[in-house]
Amino acid sequence: MKDRILVTGGTGYIGSHTVVELQNAGYEVVIVDNLSNSSADVVDNIEAVSGIRPAFEKLDCLDFAGLDGVFAKYPGIKAIIHFAASKAVGESVQKPLLYYRNNLVSLINLLELMPKYNVQGIVFSSSCTVYGQPDKLPVTEEAPIKKAESPYGNTKQINEEIIRDTVASGAPVSAILLRYFNPIGAHPSALLGELPNGVPQNLVPYIVQTAIGIREKLSIFGDDYNTPDGTCIRDYINVVDLAKAHVVAIARILEKKQKEKVEVFNIGTGHGLSVLQLVHAFEKATGVKLNYQIAPRRAGDIEQVWADPALANKELGWKAETNIEDTLRSAWNWQLKLRERGIQ
Ligand code: UFG
Repeated sequence: MKDRILVTGGTGYIGSHTVVELQNAGYEVVIVDNLSNSSADVVDNIEAVSGIRPAFEKLDCLDFAGLDGVFAKYPGIKAIIHFAASKAVGESVQKPLLYYRNNLVSLINLLELMPKYNVQGIVFSSSCTVYGQPDKLPVTEEAPIKKAESPYGNTKQINEEIIRDTVASGAPVSAILLRYFNPIGAHPSALLGELPNGVPQNLVPYIVQTAIGIREKLSIFGDDYNTPDGTCIRDYINVVDLAKAHVVAIARILEKKQKEKVEVFNIGTGHGLSVLQLVHAFEKATGVKLNYQIAPRRAGDIEQVWADPALANKELGWKAETNIEDTLRSAWNWQLKLRERGIQ
């Protein structure tokens, strides 16, 4: 048995896929999640996929004493993957203090507890949102951080700084900041995936809900951008590929292979796809025709961004592997399964 890893937000979308990959790699996982945006049966599904039931504690990371209790109950936690956070861009504009409290205090609590329990390192879920609209594409980790467009984006930037300042102060911890591009898709088993709360804000959940008839039609936000077909461009990364990046990041920390105590990696495919290209790829992959219309631009959208993942390729030995059709098919199969289970 390999080391014990704490995964906050481990029943969420990216968290649940990562728990499976950690277990596949032999790690023992303890999940902490307050179930604010997920449900406890995700633990059953993780077990169904990996054959191993992870330890699960229903707890809010704002609860310092509760977190302390988790480290005491599960001795020897070697590293943390910190997913637990509020993540809806629009909601963060309406409720900034909720976002600042949830996303900042949770991380601070973990960083305060790490030395007490000899936790060596933390992998943090950051986002390409920190680059805003990059001046050069593909964007590398060296690109300047741009002023955040939303409180949510700002929490990612501030959290990166909190980690850097903590490590610089001499705290005996190290960190890997993974800047995700646009995670999409679901586990090939269709037992794990993204379960949006209410009307989906993100593109692929909206597409699959339209395809199955929950939504009438997809609105494509703007076709007058300065891109080849006028729609925005993103780097869509398969969620299982993304999950695997966390496993190699954890190994790098535990095997003390880091070149610096805080390292940053872009986690993307290196290829940009426009909204229209993605819609057409979905139709091709699934054979389902999608009802869509062109709508006005959405406030705050970046025109185009895609990753230069060369550093992650070289240093982590990680690469996105799944093609877009397989990824979109996995999202569709997950939606079909939700219908079968009577969920959505
Ligand atoms: N889009 C539509 N119609 C929809 C939903 C989205 O046309 O119904 C378009 C958007 O305008 C954008 C693209 O699809 O051009 C992708 O939009 P998403 O909402 O899926 O993703 P974003 O790139 O806007 O946001 C994602 C994450 C955020 C993160 C951000 C930047 O959801 O958490 O990337 O990292 F902050």
